[in-house]
Amino acid sequence: MHHFNYEDGHLHCEGVDLNEIADQIGTPVYVYSTATLRRHARVIAAAFDGMDCLIAYSVKANGNLAVLKTLASEGCGADVVSGGELKRALTAGIPAHRIVFSGVGKTREEMVLALETGIHQFNVESGAELIELSEVAMGLGKVAPVALRVNPDVAAGGHPNISTGKAGDKFGVPWADAPELYHQMKALPGVEAVGVDVHIGSQIGDLEPMRAAFKKTIGLVKFLRDAGHDLKRIDLGGGLGIPYQASDSPAPPSDYAQMIRDVTEGLGLQVILEPGRVIAGNAGVMVSEVLYHKPAPDRTFLIIDAGMNDLMRPALYQAHHDILPLAEPSADTPRTTYDIVGPICESTDKFAAQRKMPEVPAGGRIAFMSSGAYGAVLSSQYNARPLVAEVLVDGDQYALVRRRPSFDEMIQLEQMPDWLS
Ligand code: LLP
Repeated sequence: MHHFNYEDGHLHCEGVDLNEIADQIGTPVYVYSTATLRRHARVIAAAFDGMDCLIAYSVKANGNLAVLKTLASEGCGADVVSGGELKRALTAGIPAHRIVFSGVGKTREEMVLALETGIHQFNVESGAELIELSEVAMGLGKVAPVALRVNPDVAAGGHPNISTGKAGDKFGVPWADAPELYHQMKALPGVEAVGVDVHIGSQIGDLEPMRAAFKKTIGLVKFLRDAGHDLKRIDLGGGLGIPYQASDSPAPPSDYAQMIRDVTEGLGLQVILEPGRVIAGNAGVMVSEVLYHKPAPDRTFLIIDAGMNDLMRPALYQAHHDILPLAEPSADTPRTTYDIVGPICESTDKFAAQRKMPEVPAGGRIAFMSSGAYGAVLSSQYNARPLVAEVLVDGDQYALVRRRPSFDEMIQLEQMPDWLS
């Protein structure tokens, strides 16, 4: 469910015509809907109502400060994976005690920052990280609350590149090592085991792999409790999928929540969730303008002003995004087939192959739907293209929430060595 609809022949985000934003801000531009973000946060919160549950929005999905502030005002905590994301979450007003820190490669500096801020939990992913964290915490006279991320050896996720829970993946500690690591934690004065953490992948539409992984993890919690560990929390990660096209039917949040209620019932555990995509994904679109039509013997290329540097998902995961013209097609608008490509000098700079859609003339605009998660956050300045701009809409108002840098700003970080100046 989202708030992008045709009104008076033009695609709108809530009460704002996307053409107006494109005219004012230029293209490519990401546009986010406040109403959709709020709705998704509320649907998730309502699904877990009455449970001891921390919804720690996964900042990696969309870390724009205005997006984070909107979600903070809905009561969301944050799941962060770097010092930068921690800073963003705090800057947006998410309290430290609602922040969990995940990721396989935390540096000492990041640990210090997180310990000094007093975050809720570190999700630790290796024995070496445990020792490091304990040392850093002791140096600060603190004790780090820790959940060990375990690898349950369950496959799931919309694409091999976003599956994280199989034995060969770099994520989590091997299942068989977990009891020994919890045992070792008892002897490390800078860390305290407070829970267990699991996350098996992203864009998961079928609840069964999750249920299997969660049940297995609950079995581990019980085993560890019997072995004398006072575990109070279970972090079940993120991963719930979203519909990218009409034929997708991922499990709804209510079923996901019911499954989690079933598997955690009666254990007296705080449940931590790290949803990213399900909150932000359908709350954003990327708008781009058609530059040229380029006929080739067997196809027509639609060359647009957005590149894979602006929206990486198709190039990285062969991801599908519905593409809608901003001008509402009528029954008479001819349908055609395009290969939709950007200006980047890479063959992977292709958003869609042989996409059947209404004709869009040069100068016409299109929206890549469902781009609110893993869109702008993955953008780069490849080919020296300015970072894509971002806009937030709320009702009939909109504001630029990340501006496009100028060329001068882009080169400002660089400097000439003495011997060249
Ligand atoms: N927690 C952990 C530990 C994660 O690694 C992730 C995502 C999440 C939570 C949030 O997962 P979500 O609810 O958004 O599925 N760039 C890829 C997705 C990468 C996901 C990385 N980890 C894409 O565009 O599909």
